[in-house]
Amino acid sequence: MRNTDYNILQGDALHVLEKISQSSKEKNKYRLIVTSPPYYKHRNYGEKNGELGQEKTVEEYLNNLVDVFTQCKKLLTEDGSLFIVIGDKRQNHSKLMIPHRLAIKLTEIGYTFQEDIIWYKKNAISTSSKISLTSSYELILFLSKGKKPYLNMDPIRVQGNEVTSGSKETPPLQKIQFKSMGKNIRAIEKIKNIIHNSLPETSFDDLPTTNEISWAYGYDPEKQCPTCYRKFKRHATRKRIGGHTHYPIFAPCNPKGKNPGNVWEISTKAHHGNEHFAMFPEDLIAKIVKFTTEEGDYILDPFVGRGTSGIVSACLKRKFTGIDLYYENIVKTKRNVQNAIDSKLPQKILNQIITTKSNLKEFF
Ligand SMILES: C[S@@+](CC[C@H](N)C(=O)[O-])C[C@H]1O[C@@H](n2cnc3c(N)ncnc32)[C@H](O)[C@@H]1O
Repeated sequence: MRNTDYNILQGDALHVLEKISQSSKEKNKYRLIVTSPPYYKHRNYGEKNGELGQEKTVEEYLNNLVDVFTQCKKLLTEDGSLFIVIGDKRQNHSKLMIPHRLAIKLTEIGYTFQEDIIWYKKNAISTSSKISLTSSYELILFLSKGKKPYLNMDPIRVQGNEVTSGSKETPPLQKIQFKSMGKNIRAIEKIKNIIHNSLPETSFDDLPTTNEISWAYGYDPEKQCPTCYRKFKRHATRKRIGGHTHYPIFAPCNPKGKNPGNVWEISTKAHHGNEHFAMFPEDLIAKIVKFTTEEGDYILDPFVGRGTSGIVSACLKRKFTGIDLYYENIVKTKRNVQNAIDSKLPQKILNQIITTKSNLKEFF
């Protein structure tokens, strides 16, 4: 893999960020900052003073994070995005609402709050607790420096069934129609004419059927849509809206897939070589990177750990800077990112990064 360069820096995130944000070359450079900071009172990563997450009070912890993300804002491009994967904590039987409180504080320093994405972990291990529910999701805060961040929805579109009764399974290929065979311009015109000339009192029976409508547009009414898996006759409607004679007649889905929504179902993974302790899996980061950046863009992770965000950036030909307090993590991240650049990653991990959509993609 080429077109990537990376820079992995050791030190306290705040100090390093304060230093690099003084450089005019670094300011406004990063289109994405994606990170998973240490969670509050969750674990120790080493012996050093200054490790985040070990603060006496949650207020102190939040203020330290705000300081870090204040520096980050200087480094983001005007259309840049900030994604923070962050967990909550219970104290005295009460959830501290850490993600929500952080989000509010970040809007107070000028970030735009775009979304709180739920990362749903279907394979979360159940707790034996009788007084609290198993935590099966994590929040991903999505903020941006300006009002309108750069976003590319197409690489993260999904296919799947929207109808409640249907199965989510991919239909057999012979049941799917990928493109309109619509050369029936006259048939379409005829149907449009009936519709446009109908009156509120026109009998429903005099309107074309949903089968006729989908057929006229070049779709076999009984075949299924590659995006939502509904039959094409379900894309057609004869409904009249109020007293109007105009109504939507055929509404095919976006053939590139549908908007993935703000609940992302991604399994947690056991990591390769037993030496990863990422708070986020590669496919989660790949989705964020594809959504918010283009090839050649710069990405930063101020709490890089063993370098998941760096690995994904390298595989997707983005340039990367990572920071961590511990030398050991710097060495391992450098090695992991270099392996990604040299195409030495296990195929399984590579597949998670490169492919995020269903295999139907290849037919478009
Ligand atoms: C949740 S882990 C990040 C894991 C990472 N996503 C990965 O792919 O491995 C948080 C990281 O923050 C680092 N860290 C803790 N306090 C820090 C500080 N003050 N400055 C920089 N890094 C810090 C820890 O060493 C740890 O590697």
